[in-house]
Amino acid sequence: MKRTLGVCYYPEHWPEAQWAEDAQRMADLGLTWVRIGEFAWKRMEPREGEYDWGWLDRAIETLGAAGLKVVLGTPTATPPKWVCKKHPDMFAVDEHGHVRGYGSRRHYCFSHQGFLEECRRIVRAVAERYGRNPHVAAWQTDNEYGCHDTVISYSDAARDRFRNWLRGQFPGQGNDGDIDALNAAWGNVFWSMDYDDFDEIDLPNLTVTEPNPAHVHAFRRFASEEVVAFNRAQVEIIRAHSDAPIAHNYMGRVTEFDHFKVGDDLDIASWDSYPLGFLEDRVGANAAHQRAYARQGDPDFQAFHHDLYRAVGKGRWWIMEQQPGPVNWAPYNPSPLPGMVRLWTWEAFAHGAEAVCYFRWRQAPFAQEQMHAGLLRPDSVAAEAFGEAAQVMEELADAPDVVAAQAPVGIIFDYDADWAWSVQPHGVGLSYFGLVFDWYRACRKLGLSVDILPPSARDFAGYSAVIVPGMMHVPFELKVALQASDTQVILGPRTGARDPDFNIPNPLPPAWPGSDLVVSRVQSMRPDLPVALEGDGHVHLYFEQVEGGSEVVMRTEDGAPVAVRLDAKTTYVAGWGDDTAHMRLIEAVVPDLTVRHMQEGVRCRDAGTERFWFNYTDHPVEVDGHELPAAGVLRLPR
Ligand code: GAL
Repeated sequence: MKRTLGVCYYPEHWPEAQWAEDAQRMADLGLTWVRIGEFAWKRMEPREGEYDWGWLDRAIETLGAAGLKVVLGTPTATPPKWVCKKHPDMFAVDEHGHVRGYGSRRHYCFSHQGFLEECRRIVRAVAERYGRNPHVAAWQTDNEYGCHDTVISYSDAARDRFRNWLRGQFPGQGNDGDIDALNAAWGNVFWSMDYDDFDEIDLPNLTVTEPNPAHVHAFRRFASEEVVAFNRAQVEIIRAHSDAPIAHNYMGRVTEFDHFKVGDDLDIASWDSYPLGFLEDRVGANAAHQRAYARQGDPDFQAFHHDLYRAVGKGRWWIMEQQPGPVNWAPYNPSPLPGMVRLWTWEAFAHGAEAVCYFRWRQAPFAQEQMHAGLLRPDSVAAEAFGEAAQVMEELADAPDVVAAQAPVGIIFDYDADWAWSVQPHGVGLSYFGLVFDWYRACRKLGLSVDILPPSARDFAGYSAVIVPGMMHVPFELKVALQASDTQVILGPRTGARDPDFNIPNPLPPAWPGSDLVVSRVQSMRPDLPVALEGDGHVHLYFEQVEGGSEVVMRTEDGAPVAVRLDAKTTYVAGWGDDTAHMRLIEAVVPDLTVRHMQEGVRCRDAGTERFWFNYTDHPVEVDGHELPAAGVLRLPR
């Protein structure tokens, strides 16, 4: 599979007379892919049942005639007004009970069955029309599930379906569930919360104080399943009419639904990478870090998602939208340093991307995203990113195809654990994503390439280390598989802390087979009260007290155990370490890894026959005897 480039294009935004020239310029640039259509429902179906395909037929024909391949989006993220008037209760409802109304996008509730039927109809119409079109070479379902906080909805439709979903989780006689089993599993005896009937169960918002965490966690699982079902409904229809691969465009740090489960129904995972926007509003970095990387983005955030979505796509993944310049939606929206668009593109290829598509072809002079750059300015003159894309195109000429390569370290990422942490963070701002990302960064600072692994992974052959931070519920089969593997396993904190119904297990966590180690007390800590370790580094934010185990691998200055071996190849880490602590631990417990300590802001990644170096700083550095310019990329043979 060749490494390819593409772009997102909105023919409906431009006069038809301009399409052919646009298509020719895209082809001249060397692009392969053009994604279109994902917001064009109103143009496809101006009124119910009245379709207008003429413009889309011609747009696809124009792009195809220029040699471009089309990724066709289903338009369900932007239901037109007439759909909303027909289904006035199709909107999502926020946690305060407010309806999230019309006038932007993603204004729907995943649970609304009337809206789902409208989606099935428009997707069927699009798939029937274009399923065999020779220029339609891939599909995208909807657009960015979860964007603008749209997975969780407290609507009546969600409540009714949640009750039925719970009946299925606690099956009883006939069609009704076993309400006593639910009461027992959730511990509803606490505060007299026992229910007599599933229809008494409301959604866990608008309570006086904290609702039962088991209730909230169940609702989070349900909400994720609703996204899986919504996506599957579209996929089934597209597959009936087309053999082209189907993708969805996921996002950075959106964890409200299980991407692995959505991914099971798709052929390709893709994601939308906006490194500068993320640094400002999603990475969670401090002000000094944000200043240092304001025009480059965080050196690990994109890489983490590349590795995550490679796993979600079972090897096949793309960037569907790549930031090309300043965007419109972050707190601050600076210009990337010259060279960064090229760097981001190559970094995706280094992590195994098949395609990188830039968002968008031309900056829009109207509506919500006027302040968002494209490859072209609104006047069609090439913007800065155009030249960087052209440079990547040239460099691709002698680059190898996409290669699959196993990394030495695996990190398990479990969406269910992310929900568990967010239901019960036990301290302000503590998140599972944050913990996993800290471990990931520590690996990268040691120059280690990483594979993100799904919680369903059972085969760990070939990994020197597998890290399982904070996975609140670890299925027994996973414990057994980790135990049976030859790899060094690093657990904790909070790994195995809850049973599947959100109760503390007995024996106490982590309840690891063959080990007597127990977490006897847990505490969260103020961010400004870190605890110093013997040697170097700190634990902060979260620190458990443990008893048992065998050898203590790391202690605080006061002698409290921080990392304890359960056996020769399993280590439990009882605290949230800083980078230094995590790096020291990896080096201490996995001695057969070849580590290379990275300079600040420099990262490397091994991919098949290539070794890539990336310089996220604003000054030149030297790596492996080569000069690496500011915002530069080096691609060397391995
Ligand atoms: C993405 C979205 C695009 C566009 C872009 C702007 O989240 O999929 O449609 O809005 O952001 O950065």
